[in-house]
Amino acid sequence: MKQELSDIANALVAPGKGILAADESSGTIKKRFDSIGVDSTEETRRDYREMLFRAGDGMKNYVSGVILYDETIRQKGKDGTPLVDVMRVAGAIPGIKVDEGAKTLAGPHADIEKVTEGLDGLRERLAEYHRLGARFAKWRAVITIADGTPTWNCIKANAHALARYAALCQEAGIVPIVEPEVLMDGSHSGHDIDRCYEVTEWTQRTVFRELYDARVALEGIILKPNMVIAGQKSAKQASSQQVAELTVKCLKATVPAAVPGIAFLSGGQSDAQATENLSLMNQIGGVPWKLTFSYGRALQAAALKAWGGKSENVAAGQRAFTHRARMNSLAALGKWNEQLEKAA
Ligand code: 13P
Repeated sequence: MKQELSDIANALVAPGKGILAADESSGTIKKRFDSIGVDSTEETRRDYREMLFRAGDGMKNYVSGVILYDETIRQKGKDGTPLVDVMRVAGAIPGIKVDEGAKTLAGPHADIEKVTEGLDGLRERLAEYHRLGARFAKWRAVITIADGTPTWNCIKANAHALARYAALCQEAGIVPIVEPEVLMDGSHSGHDIDRCYEVTEWTQRTVFRELYDARVALEGIILKPNMVIAGQKSAKQASSQQVAELTVKCLKATVPAAVPGIAFLSGGQSDAQATENLSLMNQIGGVPWKLTFSYGRALQAAALKAWGGKSENVAAGQRAFTHRARMNSLAALGKWNEQLEKAA
């Protein structure tokens, strides 16, 4: 079992490949569709995602796995082929989001802090997802920087849930993506890159302590962290080089070398920013794990816009997606540059 898990984890972070996060919940995908004036229905969601999964070279060359939402793992494409088979043909491993969302954490900061729920019945759900073809899963915890937060209580509760989830995944033969996200949005004035470093270090240390207590095999997980970056509304923004250096420093201080790979979330960075930061980190190098992408917005935003909900734009949407996937693949190898970005 352990070998199988580490084979899957290593395949997810194969050189020059990364993960497409297409697991937006119904509420989140509706927001994305609202931005292009498209109704969110079972059919439009299917058409949009099928467009991505059929993006030819964009999928085959650069995407190792796709994180799906419950609806999508059960859906069939227009011609009746299960979408899971469409992505398998493209060489991508199907994955599944299994958390049930970040809910208000009772306590003195209930207006701000969240704890991710979804452990009840998870063993049974994982067994079903394995039957449906999923070989990896995702659980996202969110940590918010604000006045008086994060609290130790919030970090501890989320880290504990992540570890229980990860242990259940491994029991089911599924690689857990462990995602503790220190949010970059929020308007706290003290949310500069140093505060993000401090909170990210604290969070990751706690998560790995809990993973150890739960006897999770680190060889069979992928970590999906935020980059160490200033809050979006901070007056004190950091350069890409600083983001890359502090992120690598923080990961070196907290992530054991047994972990095969780290696949970042984009978290609200622009497409180009997410790509550049990843490339710079790989240029720094000298780390024991693969550093790659598991982007949602930063891989999809351009494709979503180019598609606009119209079947005649499918090819344009696929071109936009393939371009971003290729740029991020180059970044995962530390070989991205602005000339390549513009040449397309
Ligand atoms: P973003 O890259 O848009 O942050 O999404 C990645 C993800 O899966 C968040 O859970």
